[in-house]
Amino acid sequence: MPPDQPYRIHALELGPMENFIYLIEDLATRRAAVVDPAWDVPAILDLARARGMTVTDVLLTHSHHDHINGIEELLSSVDAQIHLLKPEARFWGRCLDLPTLHHGGDRIALGDTEIEILHTPGHTPGSACYRLGDDLITGDTLFVYGCGRCDLRGGDPEQMFWTLKAMREKLPEETLIRPGHNYAVAETSTLREQIAGNPFLHFDDLQRFTQYRMHYHDKHRDAPYGPVRKGEEMP
Ligand SMILES: [Fe+2]
Repeated sequence: MPPDQPYRIHALELGPMENFIYLIEDLATRRAAVVDPAWDVPAILDLARARGMTVTDVLLTHSHHDHINGIEELLSSVDAQIHLLKPEARFWGRCLDLPTLHHGGDRIALGDTEIEILHTPGHTPGSACYRLGDDLITGDTLFVYGCGRCDLRGGDPEQMFWTLKAMREKLPEETLIRPGHNYAVAETSTLREQIAGNPFLHFDDLQRFTQYRMHYHDKHRDAPYGPVRKGEEMP
């Protein structure tokens, strides 16, 4: 961790689907934001308590069950503001108490820590990534050496193609990817490593990307995912 960084990120791997739940700790105020509260709320609260943190915010990357099934239980223990993107709230169709609906590019202040929300549709219409410093919490948009499925309700491989292209072109290569599932040979990775070895970041052609995402990948590749050389994604 760089010494001037105002926050620390804690990762918990919870549940049967190898979900990563993150706690962002603002070091100055000891406020914490829980990203995608799910599966084991006591474990999340134990970590907060052990570090002397107060959970004040909940950030949702998207609304799939495996990322949100701890919301009610968490909110019965802490008073926290929920953040998600407006198109995801519309897709989800659920009314929560006190949700804060955002547009892509909005910023959330967690004490001294500034968190930017990026709108990254493809896995769901309102999928979000959360960017702070060099860290990028990517939910089910970008995995280490993988990306989220686009064949579930609300998924769209064309949107995913443009989302990944924008991430590849606009974010600094030293960005550290922190995904929503532990599906790969490493828990985190830099964007530089992903541009080199993540097959989903290799495509310049939408049709080939769609073919790979929707029809080829899941039949020909097993977790844990490792690097694939450019040009060797599929015949
Ligand atoms: Fe998902």
